[in-house]
Amino acid sequence: MRRAVCPGSFDPVTNGHLDIVGRASRLFDEVVIGVLINQSKSGLFTIDERIEMLREATAEYENVRVASFHGLLVDFCRAQGAAVVIKGLRAVSDFDYELQMAQMNIGLSGVETLFMPTNPLYSFLSSSLVKDVVKWGGDASSYVPDFVGDRLAERLKQN
Ligand code: PNS
Repeated sequence: MRRAVCPGSFDPVTNGHLDIVGRASRLFDEVVIGVLINQSKSGLFTIDERIEMLREATAEYENVRVASFHGLLVDFCRAQGAAVVIKGLRAVSDFDYELQMAQMNIGLSGVETLFMPTNPLYSFLSSSLVKDVVKWGGDASSYVPDFVGDRLAERLKQN
């Protein structure tokens, strides 16, 4: 079985992430979304909330699963039986760091990284920008699923 991992923080999932996951699901038998548990960085949403939103947003894809991991991405890939990591590249500015991580990951374990060009509709998009837009009352409906926009508005109102 050809299995790929799409890793990230997903705080929260955006339409840019979903575009990459959906396209990867057509190329691989199974795609595992890996949500990084980062103990040194507290997010807006808990890991369980992020997973729940990702599951809802990817429910249409029968071959997509969501799991969390901490530590090295390559260890998560090994545990999942995945030989490939899929990353979206939004712009040249993403490339330097992504290349470093890809080279480190192949050196550590032989796990390959395949880069997928982001849909130009989302080339400027990030979870951080969406949080800022919603925080200040902007319209993020083109950038996250409606239910994620609602969760964001509710959470940011409390903060
Ligand atoms: O959505 P993000 O925050 O840009 O995702 C970054 C992520 C999770 C892909 C990256 O931080 C990662 O792979 N972290 C795991 C730690 C690791 O394996 N480090 C060494 C690889 S260079």
